[in-house]
Amino acid sequence: MTEKALALQKLIHQLQLAYSGERAAALAYRGHWRSLRDVETRDRIRQIEEEEWHHRALVGRMLKELGKKPRLFRELRAFLIGRVLGLLCHVSGRFLPMYGAGKLERKNVKEYEVAARHAVDSGHPEYVDCLLLMAEVEWDHEKFFRAQVEGHSWLSMFPLWPPLPPKEQIRTPLSSDKSAAILTEGFSLT
Ligand SMILES: [Fe+2]
Ligand SMILES: [Fe+2]
Repeated sequence: MTEKALALQKLIHQLQLAYSGERAAALAYRGHWRSLRDVETRDRIRQIEEEEWHHRALVGRMLKELGKKPRLFRELRAFLIGRVLGLLCHVSGRFLPMYGAGKLERKNVKEYEVAARHAVDSGHPEYVDCLLLMAEVEWDHEKFFRAQVEGHSWLSMFPLWPPLPPKEQIRTPLSSDKSAAILTEGFSLT
């Protein structure tokens, strides 16, 4: 298998993971904001839910264009995980859902950055801007959830996850190589 074909395989795998991951996240956030009373926090998490559905639609479109489908098993698992987490938010108190979400969002930033790398390597530069834009939105989500738990007494039992690099750095690693032009030409799926 050529390096390009391997990168395409990795890109598709990453997109399938993200597609189902977004479903689990969106469903969990739906339960999360519904469990809260504070209007401002509720609204922000409702907005985050909408952003995850939007990401899912964008990733779904990429998969379709690449002639691939979501993985059924992952889809079912995401549905179950999302619903269970969403329900648990109603009984778990305020800290744990915020903490879990923050850790997850940190991972999501990395996953979209990796997908963008695979997009470049597989000869699909048209997806880079959209993937990095999603990484940037996940960065905002992480920031929000971090702020929700900072200073909480439970952090002595649940250590705060390491901070993310500054948001501007999301585009730095790719801009240093030959794909720099791709990032500045403004390809977008949105
Ligand atoms: Fe997302
Ligand atoms: Fe997110």
